[in-house]
Amino acid sequence: MASPQSKLTAAILIISETASKDPSTDKCIPALSQVFSDLGSSNWHISTTSIIPDSISAIQLAILKACDEGVNLIITSGGTGFAVKDVTPEAVGPLIEKQAPGLVHGMLASSLQVTPFAVMSRPVAGVRGSTLIITLPGSPKGAKENLEAVFKLLSHACLQASGGDSRQMHQGGVKKLEKEAGVGGGETTGGEKASGHKQAHHHGHGCGRDHGHGGHHGPKAHTAPEDRPQQSNDPSQGPSRRHRHSPYPMLSVADALQQIDAHTPSPTIVTLPVNETLVGHVLAEDITAPESVPAFRASIVDGYAVIAGADAPSTKGTFPVAMISHAQAGEHQELQKGQIARITTGAPLPPGATSVVMVEDTLLVSKTDDGTEEKEVEILTGDIQVGENVREVGSDVQAGDVIMRKGEGISAVGGEFGLLASVGVKQVSVYKKPVVGVLSTGDEIVNHDREGELRRGEVRDTNRPTLLTAIRGSDFEAVDLGIVSDKPGALEQTLRDATRKVDVIITSGGVSMGELDLLKPTLERSLGGHIHFGRVAMKPGKPTTFATIPTKSSLDGSRISTVVFSLPGNPASCVVTYHLFVLPALHKLAGVEPRGCARVKVLLDGDVKLDKQRDEFHRAIVKAGGDGVMHAVSTGGQRSSRIGSFKGANALLCLPAGEGVIKKGEMVEALLMGKLVGDV
Ligand SMILES: *[C@@H]1O[C@H](CO)[C@@H](O)[C@H](O)[C@H]1NC(C)=O
Repeated sequence: MASPQSKLTAAILIISETASKDPSTDKCIPALSQVFSDLGSSNWHISTTSIIPDSISAIQLAILKACDEGVNLIITSGGTGFAVKDVTPEAVGPLIEKQAPGLVHGMLASSLQVTPFAVMSRPVAGVRGSTLIITLPGSPKGAKENLEAVFKLLSHACLQASGGDSRQMHQGGVKKLEKEAGVGGGETTGGEKASGHKQAHHHGHGCGRDHGHGGHHGPKAHTAPEDRPQQSNDPSQGPSRRHRHSPYPMLSVADALQQIDAHTPSPTIVTLPVNETLVGHVLAEDITAPESVPAFRASIVDGYAVIAGADAPSTKGTFPVAMISHAQAGEHQELQKGQIARITTGAPLPPGATSVVMVEDTLLVSKTDDGTEEKEVEILTGDIQVGENVREVGSDVQAGDVIMRKGEGISAVGGEFGLLASVGVKQVSVYKKPVVGVLSTGDEIVNHDREGELRRGEVRDTNRPTLLTAIRGSDFEAVDLGIVSDKPGALEQTLRDATRKVDVIITSGGVSMGELDLLKPTLERSLGGHIHFGRVAMKPGKPTTFATIPTKSSLDGSRISTVVFSLPGNPASCVVTYHLFVLPALHKLAGVEPRGCARVKVLLDGDVKLDKQRDEFHRAIVKAGGDGVMHAVSTGGQRSSRIGSFKGANALLCLPAGEGVIKKGEMVEALLMGKLVGDV
């Protein structure tokens, strides 16, 4: 926090394509520096001046850098007109956390005293963190006059923004403040009095094309900005105006995973019919069998159903074959003493029968007249016991038995689906599997299968198809949300729509830093979301970002969170961070335990070099060796932009930061991303 004794710091950012190419053409830095030395040399120190081209991302980067450095005031000049290249308000607007419409009015009001063309300027002003940002026109004269109009109020505003005690500052009342600022209240606005200039002249870049604010002549502000309730004229601002600091400290991988665990919603429960789409779900209830298996007494051999037992005559002897029981539905007559019935494996025993004699223990005696059926059969043994060769009702599953437990998964390979099907369970409560939406950002990104050659600057989108296949490969539904342009508002709209359709959103940044920097303010300010981390100490994947957006559940309208991951802008890092961070969140939402990739010990078949600073997740091929050990081979170059180095990789070696190498023949931990294939 700045104290009155220490000087306040200011950064001057000139936004001009021309001057960024040839700094000698710039006249604004001297003009604005002059204002500081004329009006506030004892209070102010200009810590940075720089010249930036007309690019949203370049402007945002410069603003964020200055904010990170903790300057009290950022002044931009240029790019506030209506020309196509004028993007300063679009770049600065999303970064502002508290709007300062009063300063905007003050600057416009003073300019309108000088020229009606002031309506052609689109300034924005406000606070980010503890830094005040104001945007001035691009002409040296206009910029100077606008700055002069509000200059004397700026130190007060900056002190407040940096956490100064406003009550103390207000001691002595508004009059005292005005006196200190060299302005008078009442009839005149602070702006014109402070600026004290009179000549008419042109302002800004956009003069000559009339798309003005229309009829907005010389508004007079009657309150000081700091005396107004916090308010906003920014339509992109969401319902939550709570001040948020987003310092994005560097988290360890373990802390990042802990944050994901803490902020990913618990699974929701849905009832689904038992059909093949159930595979991949986890049960949210114990399942009891509604019926027994088998549901009838069934033969386990081909042979003859007989009546055996203490009070029956011996089964040895020749008997008429009274009926036939095949494995099919239908009623049977009761078997009488002295009769037998031909029966096939799995067929129901006729009523009255106690046992089955296998066909091997019998001889055919006679056939029916037409020769097609057996008439009499001799049974060669008298040792048949009651129940012999019979599968009793419920001998596999008794009605009422718990056949599966809450938390157990229904896999494609485990036979769980068959078990549910066998006892006639028609529907079950399971955890809803999350639906995952994937989008890419950046005007330079084109669909990977776009016809024709790339135009200069275009990049084929590899992240989105890569992620979509990874999600589907891990058994979750993926929704393609397409490519979002860098146009203001496009990202917000896409994210807002997505929260109604999907549970998890994955964005993968374009190639430039600027787009990521647009994501964070959009999440926090426009959507009322919260960024839980924005940097992780790992390689690759350092800029991985995890956030949640408050959302209403589509199931019951309750308040839940949509989970957002912003993954780094290249496919290899995307795949690593998907498996490391996204998968555990999907597993939590789906009730899958344990979460994330399986962790195994592998034997290195070659040396691997460690990264000095960061824990590394090194792509590798792991194979099951004939020696009963899993062997790992690095897939070569690990530079994060090399999708080629990912080919064939089914695992990530977990390598701690450190000096030197881990030698061939040593064991390391690995995360299995895919199936184990082949032998070594
Ligand atoms: C299976 O159940 C799902 C609901 O989970 C339903 O949408 C689908 O139509 C069902 N499929 C069949 C073949 O009945």
